[in-house]
Amino acid sequence: KSIADLGDLRGKRVLVRSDLNVPLEGATITDDGRIVASVPTIEALSEAGARVIVCAHLGRPKGAPEDKYSLAPVATRLGELLEHDVTFADDTVGESARSAVDGAQDGDVVLLENLRFNAGETAKSAEERAEFAGQLAGLADVFVSDGFGVVHREQASVFDVARLLPSAVGGLVETEVEVLRRLTTEPERPYAVVLGGAKVSDKLAVIDNLIQTADRLLIGGGMVFTFLKAQGHEVGKSLLEQDQVEAVKGYLDQAQQRGVEIVLPVDVVAATEFSAEADHEVVTIDAIPADRMGLDIGPRSSELFAEKLADCRTVFWNGPMGAFEMEPYAAGTAALAKALVDITSDGALTVVGGGDSAAAVRQLGFKDDQFGHISTGGGASLEYLEGKDLPGLTVLDES
Ligand code: 3PG
Repeated sequence: KSIADLGDLRGKRVLVRSDLNVPLEGATITDDGRIVASVPTIEALSEAGARVIVCAHLGRPKGAPEDKYSLAPVATRLGELLEHDVTFADDTVGESARSAVDGAQDGDVVLLENLRFNAGETAKSAEERAEFAGQLAGLADVFVSDGFGVVHREQASVFDVARLLPSAVGGLVETEVEVLRRLTTEPERPYAVVLGGAKVSDKLAVIDNLIQTADRLLIGGGMVFTFLKAQGHEVGKSLLEQDQVEAVKGYLDQAQQRGVEIVLPVDVVAATEFSAEADHEVVTIDAIPADRMGLDIGPRSSELFAEKLADCRTVFWNGPMGAFEMEPYAAGTAALAKALVDITSDGALTVVGGGDSAAAVRQLGFKDDQFGHISTGGGASLEYLEGKDLPGLTVLDES
């Protein structure tokens, strides 16, 4: 069901689950992409005369309030973007939340404090979750699921609450699913996937699936050193998941049998330590010194990756190519983003998935509209591509 199927919402209390999990430095939001992406649904509900109750999480507090995880700065930014007052309740289902909801007029927007300040939100026990979901549901008449970044979580505000209220999917989740569906159902070919980020172990399931569907797999970031090791290279002090080397060898063999091209860097930027000030140099992958660590793909690799993407009609990218937050190691990620921008303007469908990659492209000065789609979901988009059932979506199908 979409929001339109919920009927006339004037005067109705609508609980919206958004993903407002943004990076903060102190109380400063360093990338507001997820708030921006959440605005259209909230705005549409408010314009329809609903009393909009937004709920969300920030970070991973352990079931109790912690100042550094308060959504208060997010409430301020949300109000600026909506150009509408946002009432911030400083608890989630307590006195403050109830009085904010009771005081809301048609069209008003309330943001509840971090859901994860309540142990019931993420509880393993279904009873505990259901109890908290019941308290949340008690605040509202209908539920709208719009936090794509959390649909892979079986949590009270994502999963259990949808069983208690008439529920619909919000426009953001609809768009995200629509785009990801294009990647999983007959993508226009050649179809390439670029994976980066630190850990191979986080990506094994998706690699397994992509070997069945993609034409090319380009690998960079910290995870690439486990691939290089699997190919027999020495990787010095680079990040290495020794216990994954055998699994990676298996994937390399499978890819070869299936005719999937795996593209690895040919050079890297190797530094003496994980620091912007560290001495660093470009070396080929067969000459990584024993006392250095690779912190970015090198310039020849950037050229190679751009060449391998140039004729692609569909590209999904998750994970930075290097430690982009430090200027000496940002060039690989910037070059990759540029390659995607170029093919987007030639009509290819490019999807950037995941908080880190989205923050990286924005920090490097790219604009969202230079890519086909920037997904708000990291884990969620990967799990979708893995072909897993996402609890926050299946529960809506059931209801
Ligand atoms: C994310 O940042 O990917 C989502 O907000 C989900 O957060 P989580 O991984 O802490 O559940």
